Amino acid sequence: MDQDLKFVIVGHVDHGKSTLIGRLLFDTNSLPPDKMEEIRRTSEELGRVVEYAFLMDNLQEEREQGITIDTAQTFFKTAKRQYVIIDAPGHVEFVKNMLTGASLAEAAILIVDAAEGLKEQTRRHSYLLSLIGIKQVIVVVNKMDLVDYQEAAFDEIKQELAAFLAGLKVEPMFYIPIAALKGDNVAKPSENMPWYAGKTVLTALDDLHDLEEAQNQALILPAQEIYKIGDKRYVLGRVEAGEVKAGQTIKVLPSGQTTTVKTVEKFQQEGLPSAGMGENVGLTTADPLFIERGNVICQPGKEPVLKNEFSATLFWLNHEPLTKEEPLIIKCATQETPAQVIIEKRFNSSTMEVLEENAQQLQFLEAAEIIIKTKKPLALTRFSELAELGKFVLIKNDNIVAGGIINEL
Ligand code: GTP
Ligand code: MG
Repeated sequence: MDQDLKFVIVGHVDHGKSTLIGRLLFDTNSLPPDKMEEIRRTSEELGRVVEYAFLMDNLQEEREQGITIDTAQTFFKTAKRQYVIIDAPGHVEFVKNMLTGASLAEAAILIVDAAEGLKEQTRRHSYLLSLIGIKQVIVVVNKMDLVDYQEAAFDEIKQELAAFLAGLKVEPMFYIPIAALKGDNVAKPSENMPWYAGKTVLTALDDLHDLEEAQNQALILPAQEIYKIGDKRYVLGRVEAGEVKAGQTIKVLPSGQTTTVKTVEKFQQEGLPSAGMGENVGLTTADPLFIERGNVICQPGKEPVLKNEFSATLFWLNHEPLTKEEPLIIKCATQETPAQVIIEKRFNSSTMEVLEENAQQLQFLEAAEIIIKTKKPLALTRFSELAELGKFVLIKNDNIVAGGIINEL
């Protein structure tokens, strides 16, 4: 069974993100029944094109009123699997969600208006995709109706974007000409563009890969909490990669002690044989080791790297600038320790233009190549290997002020 696939839709203002989302929900029958009916009726009676963007904003309002449980995510299903669209109201929120929250997109749809072409935010969002390391990108050229569904208009944008993205080492898997408002090439192949024989948005999505590889990796379990019931000591945490089994030898970082897993338990389920990725478990161990929050449990011989100095790409999210070497807290999974930043190269996050080397400060929304020095060593991986130990946030006065990823170790 395929897992959910999480993706984000990015692009310049008004290029049609909300419309595409509305259309995807409508075409996959994922809206509440009364909404579906209302849309059908208005379009029939008035012969009018439905404002899907308006529909989305409407749903948004309902969500804000608490009718839907999850405010940040929208779901729809194809025959293949369920999709989760991660809201990206703006680039700051997008970066924040990706680097600081649980909502890690596995793929992205980059939307460009066929009539307007590439705009500042198209470039900025493309850059963010590369910064965050999203490998699976679908480009949709929207509003093809405004350019008379002409192949030449599509080709021109495709070429310009491909050249720009190549510079960022982003290689889109598909370029699709669509008219989200009318549904061309969203769920159904368009009759208006017989020159296009490629995939629709839905079939392209179904072609993406799940990021399931983490399931086949070695165990990573960052300890969240230590819990005592009677004389039993439980290490609580989420399995971020691999599997944990009763009887398995584990290593605890940073101490390096090893022991055996005695039992694997879940809420009201004692004595499980094992638990897999994404599951929250309680472990008891054969030896009474001192394990604390922030320790990382792994498989001996297949361990993350332990470091107290490493390089990373940082995105500064605070209105107050970052000052070189100011005291901050770094948080990576459940690990937390004081840290300082050295700014090697500071750049503009929309143009990628290098602004300064060895900078003293980093301003709001600027990105940088940095070196981080941490007080305690951290168990780390490259972001591309395992996002959970390859991304981090920086905290100042209890606020998240930056997000970063580790490209190299
Ligand atoms: P922001 O959230 O403000 O960034 O905009 P957005 O990207 O969500 O764009 P939205 O979906 O709100 O669409 C902007 C306008 O473009 C709306 O008036 C849509 O009706 C219109 N639009 C979207 N898709 C199409 C299309 O395929 N053809 C035409 N002609 N108009 C479209
Ligand atoms: Mg919108």
